[in-house]
Amino acid sequence: MTDTIPSPRSWPLIGNALEINAEFPMTSLSNLAKRYGEIFKLTVGGRERVFICTRDLCNEVMDEKRFEKAVTGALHYIREAVHDGLFTALPGEHNWGVAHRALMPAFGPLPIHGMFDEMYDIASQLVLKWERFGPQHDIKVTDDFTRLTLDSIALCAMGTRFNSFYTEELHPFVNAMVAVLIGAGGRARRPPLPSYFFRAEDQKFNENVELMLKVATDLVKQRRENPVDKKDLLNAMLYNKDPKTGENLTEECIAYNMITFLIAGHETTSGLLSFVFYELLKNPEAYRKAQEEVDRVVGDETVTYQHLSKLEYLNAILRETLRLYPPAPAFTVRPKKDEIIGGKYHVTKETPLFCFLMAIHKDPAVYGEDAEVFRPERMMDEPFGQLPPNAWKPFGNGARACIGRPFAWQEALLALAMLLSNFEFTMSDPSYQISIQSTLTIKPHDFYMRAKPRHPDI
Ligand code: HEM
Repeated sequence: MTDTIPSPRSWPLIGNALEINAEFPMTSLSNLAKRYGEIFKLTVGGRERVFICTRDLCNEVMDEKRFEKAVTGALHYIREAVHDGLFTALPGEHNWGVAHRALMPAFGPLPIHGMFDEMYDIASQLVLKWERFGPQHDIKVTDDFTRLTLDSIALCAMGTRFNSFYTEELHPFVNAMVAVLIGAGGRARRPPLPSYFFRAEDQKFNENVELMLKVATDLVKQRRENPVDKKDLLNAMLYNKDPKTGENLTEECIAYNMITFLIAGHETTSGLLSFVFYELLKNPEAYRKAQEEVDRVVGDETVTYQHLSKLEYLNAILRETLRLYPPAPAFTVRPKKDEIIGGKYHVTKETPLFCFLMAIHKDPAVYGEDAEVFRPERMMDEPFGQLPPNAWKPFGNGARACIGRPFAWQEALLALAMLLSNFEFTMSDPSYQISIQSTLTIKPHDFYMRAKPRHPDI
C-alpha cells in the first residue's frame, strides 16, 4: 500500500496555477510546504510536479544511483537558449562530460586565487561608487550587487569589462537575461494552449536569446583575435582538452557555456550578498560580531587573500544566509525508474521531484525550533561539520553540483569584508518588510540601504 501525495484541488486546464502568486511564487510554495509538510504535488502548465520539503526525503533523492538531474520547468525553456551547456545539459549528454572535465581545473584553488586581484578591482569600484554617492543616498541593493557580480565574472572569467558601475542602465545582456529568465518561468506555467496564443512573447524571448548569443560570440571572437596568456575560463574553454576523450569544446558549446557562466555566475551571488545585508541590518548583534571580526582581522589594511581564511564569522554568515535564502531556491531530480520514496510515496520515472530548499533548509528535525531564525553561530565550522548529510544543499548535488562554488565564495567573502571595512550601513526604511522576488533565482524585493563611510578622511 502506498500513500497519496497530498495536493490542493486542481482545476481543468489551469491545474493548480491559482495556488502560485506569479510575482512571489516562493512565498506561495513556502506556504504550501507549511500546509502539507514533507511532500506535496502540484499540476502546473499541464504537468505534475512533486515538491520535496524535508531533509530525510531530500537525503533519499540525492542518491545518484537512483535519481538524476531533471531539466524541467523554467530550466527546460532556458535550454532553448543554451542547449547542452553545463547547467541545462541532460544526464549523460556527451558535451556535458567534455565541458565538465575540461573546465573543472579552471575552478581549482590556484586559478581562483589567481582571480583575487580582479575581484578586488571590481569590488573597489563598488566602494568608490558608494563613497561618492554619500551617506544620504538610497542604494538599490540588488542592482549594485548585480553590477558587482556581473562585472566580476565577465572580467575574471573572460577578461572583459562590462563597466556596469559607470552606466545608469544595467548592461543590455543583463536586461536580456532577466527577460529570458522571466520568460522561461512564464512559459513553464503556461496553460496547455496552442503556441500562436503566445506568439509575441515567444518572439521577444527569441530576440533576447539572440542578443545574449551575440554578446557571447563577440567575446569569443575578441579573444581569438587578441589571445592573452592567462589561466581564465575563456582560455580554458578555448584550449583545454577533455582528459578522457582528448576533445576540445566545440564553437557552439563555448558560446552556450559562456552564456551559462554569465547567467549562473552572477545572479546567484548577487542575491546572496543582498540577503546578507538584509539579515545583518535586521540583526544588530550579528552585524556587531561581523564588524568586530573584520576590524580585528583586517584592521586598517586593505583586504588581502590571506585575510579571507581568517574571517570565520563572515564565512558562517554566508552559510546561514544560503540556508535561509538559497539563491537557487530549488533544483530538480527524477527517478531513473519508478520508485517508492519515504517508504510510502510512489513516484514514476517521469515525475520531476523539486528539492525545495526553502523548506528543506528549515527542517526543524535538523535545525530545531528556531529554524526560521538567522543565527550564524549554528554555521560556524564545528556545528556545520556535524550537520546530517544533505541538510544544506544551496549548491546542488553530486556530479551536477555547482562548478562555480569556489568562485562565488571568494567573491562574496571579499565583497562583504571590503564593504564592512569601509562603511557603516543602515536600512533606508527601518520598517521595510522583506518579500522575495524570483526568476530562476531569488532576491529581496525593493530593498534599499544607506552607506556611511567609516573613514571619510582617508
Ligand atoms: C549549478 C547554485 C554560483 C556556475 C548550480 C546548481 C546550484 C547552484 C543549486 C545546481 C542546479 C541544478 O541541479 O539544476 C549556485 C549558488 C551560487 C552559484 C547558490 C552562488 C552563491 C555560481 C558561479 C558560477 C556558477 C559563480 C560560475 C562561475 C554553475 C554551473 C552549474 C551550476 C555552470 C551547472 C553545473 C553542472 O551541471 O555541471 N549552481 N551557484 N554558479 N552553477 Fe552555480
